[in-house]
Amino acid sequence: MNVSQLAQVTSDYEQEVAQFAADVLTGLSSESKYLSAKYFYDDTGSELFRAISQHQDYYLTRTEYEILDRHSRQLPALLGEDEIDIIELGAGDGHKSELILNSFLAAGVKVNFYAIDISDKAMDMLAETIKEKTNLTVRGLVGDYFDGLRFVKERSSKRQLVLFLGSNIGNFDHVESKAFLRRLWSSLNADDYLLIGFDLKKDINELVSAYSDSSNYTRDLNLNLLARINRELGGDFDLSAFQHYAVYNPVLGAMESYLLALREQKVYIEALQQAFHFDAFEPLHLEYSFKFLPTEIDSLCKQTGYKLIDNFSDSGERFIDSLWQVSLRKP
Ligand code: AVI
Repeated sequence: MNVSQLAQVTSDYEQEVAQFAADVLTGLSSESKYLSAKYFYDDTGSELFRAISQHQDYYLTRTEYEILDRHSRQLPALLGEDEIDIIELGAGDGHKSELILNSFLAAGVKVNFYAIDISDKAMDMLAETIKEKTNLTVRGLVGDYFDGLRFVKERSSKRQLVLFLGSNIGNFDHVESKAFLRRLWSSLNADDYLLIGFDLKKDINELVSAYSDSSNYTRDLNLNLLARINRELGGDFDLSAFQHYAVYNPVLGAMESYLLALREQKVYIEALQQAFHFDAFEPLHLEYSFKFLPTEIDSLCKQTGYKLIDNFSDSGERFIDSLWQVSLRKP
């Protein structure tokens, strides 16, 4: 993939910064302070996430790789197409996508691969891994997922397989994930497919160490959001005055990431013309990473308008890649 094959599907940078500022204002003004983890992934955040995903403590990426290595060869026969559009939401570094693409190519299927990501950096990392070859075209789309899906739909009427891997769905709460899956359902055609990654509920110690890795990349990913507010919105967060804390909430079934203020302090943000007060040990919530039971995957699938075709798991049953097909009945 080269730059000429990249399309900027979501434009207005100023509008994005204004939205970022508005979300920061809402989160920091709230009774229980929060910021959205969707803002983790600027270029630095994407690099940090790559380091996390290669870390021994973060089992998710290598486990999903194992699943795709074991099972992706079954996909071409299950889908039964001669040519297919494969659209990846949140491109990652491309290693998992590569396994899937190669399975289709090995089965003689012509593949048009579209990778959609909000980060240019993520697209650069993907371009290092995935190169065009016979029967494979590659196009990077930088922007919002749904703008990217519209871009593809306006240009092609081929059967689509959407990849939403890596437990990205876990970063939405239950209301958001249903809304997201229904919106995806309505932007696909009947009988299109979705391969979606779910991290399973498991031993709490394993979960906690995955989200507080021994090299502190996860801490740095969280702190980078404060640094991003400093850079883009003229904030004066002192990063050394916050501690990263990751905890499993068994009632929600989710890992939760917080930054705790280590002392009472005020943070001024130029773009908001406002200072925000933190008490000592006040928590700032940044991220949910929901974990699932197979039965919960099943009901999420049915409730949002899809038919479950198959669940693929790893040898340790830690993670599931679930293949869904868009069903005609309205959810
Ligand atoms: C991107 N997402 C699926 C990761 C997760 O596991 O929730 C983000 C992450 N946060 C901390 N470590 C990794």
